[in-house]
Amino acid sequence: MIRKLLSVAAVGLSALALTGETRAQNYPTRAITIIVPFAAGGPTDIIARVIAAQMSTSLGQQVVIENVAGAAGTTGMLRAARATPDGYTLLVGGMSTMSFSPTLYPNLPVSSMTGLDPVGIVASAPIVLVVGKDVPAKTVKEFADYVKANSDKVVNGHAGVGSSSHLACSLLNSRMGAKPQVVPYRGTGPAMNDLVGGQIQYMCDQTTSVMGQVQGGGAKALAVLASTRSAALPNVPTIAEAGFPGTEMEIWNAVFAPKGTPPEIIKTLNAAVVKGIQDPTARARFADLGAEAPGADRQSPEALAKILAADVDKWGKVINEAGIKPIN
Ligand code: MLT
Repeated sequence: MIRKLLSVAAVGLSALALTGETRAQNYPTRAITIIVPFAAGGPTDIIARVIAAQMSTSLGQQVVIENVAGAAGTTGMLRAARATPDGYTLLVGGMSTMSFSPTLYPNLPVSSMTGLDPVGIVASAPIVLVVGKDVPAKTVKEFADYVKANSDKVVNGHAGVGSSSHLACSLLNSRMGAKPQVVPYRGTGPAMNDLVGGQIQYMCDQTTSVMGQVQGGGAKALAVLASTRSAALPNVPTIAEAGFPGTEMEIWNAVFAPKGTPPEIIKTLNAAVVKGIQDPTARARFADLGAEAPGADRQSPEALAKILAADVDKWGKVINEAGIKPIN
């Protein structure tokens, strides 16, 4: 009897495995949702929309974006981590959500490091110190003096405590000796609207979402927080050239899937990301946005896992040394 029951169970298990395998082989058979953990119009959203269009073409299914903003991207990250690991719900995370959150939010129910499977990096872009067009300063040194003299009215916007826009300007503010008013948003997309409207005076945001306003005259770029100048903003000095070295920050955005997604599906998704970032239309868009696709050695899920682990370590030290806390 026991033998009979065991053989029925074994048949059941192999049928289940076969169904899973068949599902992975036929994947995708319906639309895929990419969760963007910040508001529309910011850098994460912009990069996610470029890759979603590419993936949709190569996978032959619609790839739709859902913006789930809040708590510096951790609300959206948690939503993705809790989704069914079947390849139909993905996340485009950035360093805020993935690399800084383990240090800043150690008590999250799911960690960015263990709750998601890496798929592949889409692009990286440096942070830019961008100020409103009516801010009188032309250099970072002049700007530091301006903020110090007007700290009661100068407002620094960011995408939530623990976001890269928050961390970058926190480090820069402390190097400049500036103590501005600080206002969190649900992403730098809405913060940029207020920068252009004059409600806030500055932000540290990725080239991806500042290029349009800088080129159109709605905002001014004072420095690129990178060790080399950006090809998209060749006349803008690096932060070291501007006199404040040590505050460089380059941000990557990458696709992740809920932990336990079948390896065949991860492989299919990674191939779609790699194909997408090599497409000439995507390349041209990245160039316009000051963003760069990863080189061949940074394109695999394994490379992303290593980059994430190294980043959590590196930025954890920076965050702890700078004394940055979620309440800042
Ligand atoms: C950030 O980390 O500041 C985000 O990239 C902002 C955003 O995507 O809106």
